[in-house]
Amino acid sequence: MPLVTSKEMFKKAYEGGYAIGAFNINNMEIVQAIVEAAYEEKSPVILQASAGARKYAGPIYIKKLAEAAVAMYPELPIVIHLDHGETFEICKECIDDGFTSVMIDGSKLPFEENIKLTKKVVDYAHSKGVVVEAELGKLAGVEDNIKVSEREATFTDPEQAVEFVERTGIDSLAIAIGTSHGAYKFKGEPRLDFERLKTIAEKLKGFPLVLHGASSVPQYIVERANNYGGKIDNARGVPEDMLRKSAQMGICKINIDTDLRLAMTATIREQLAKDPKEFDPRKYLGPARDAVKEIVKHKIRNVLGYQIKYKI
Ligand code: G3H
Ligand code: 13P
Ligand code: ZN
Repeated sequence: MPLVTSKEMFKKAYEGGYAIGAFNINNMEIVQAIVEAAYEEKSPVILQASAGARKYAGPIYIKKLAEAAVAMYPELPIVIHLDHGETFEICKECIDDGFTSVMIDGSKLPFEENIKLTKKVVDYAHSKGVVVEAELGKLAGVEDNIKVSEREATFTDPEQAVEFVERTGIDSLAIAIGTSHGAYKFKGEPRLDFERLKTIAEKLKGFPLVLHGASSVPQYIVERANNYGGKIDNARGVPEDMLRKSAQMGICKINIDTDLRLAMTATIREQLAKDPKEFDPRKYLGPARDAVKEIVKHKIRNVLGYQIKYKI
């Protein structure tokens, strides 16, 4: 099958109480790792590219890598999604380029401006059969150095969420309930605002919600990176049981990038440290690809809640 939108996937995920994994792609090895994992787990998958990823690899390579994945696994439903598009122009570029899904991230804008920008993207995207994710509320991590009360003030307001969905016509909504991007998500005990998620999900029954900043930052991977020269201190992610719980509460898409980066980097560090005479990139990129595949398989199998609900 060709690249698909996430419409059908989210419908089944919502009904089944599981989430689809959305994994960030930046190069060939990462794409290969994700789609091989999804194929072996017989799971639909979302490949997402940020503006930075498109700049790094080049827009043509990113799109062709996704197409290569489709050619390799024609029976696997694969979405190619723009992650955190901040302008109408980048969304349009990706839509024109054949992306099947885009995110317009107006979360830094005032409410009315976020609505206006999002609606403009929705109108264009829908006219081309492309689906749109938008964001309301802000994700802040411990690195942002703000107090807990200030952080909570940036969480998604449930009433506004309803108005935002109605007025924009979006297909899915990313919400802020305490997660953040990167490897430093919590100082003390990890805490997500499940009450807020419950309220939003009740007000938006049947509507797919999205959780960004959902890496778990596995400590064994951080330790491995640090054992081989890394300096990743006090890194902490979202516990896996919280992700399972959120997937049962209306979260249909779970975004993971940091854990893939950690797995890749820890493995490259280990390979280079163990064999300092080696200089063939395949000798460390191959194992790094295997490590990314392993973590993606683990997410699909044990965290997203998919395997018991539905097989392609
Ligand atoms: O949420 C952001 C993703 O982790 C992508 O990060 O903009 O560095 O590619 P990036
Ligand atoms: P992590 O940094 O937690 O992996 O989140 C990734 C993300 O939300 C991409 O949009
Ligand atoms: Zn994100």
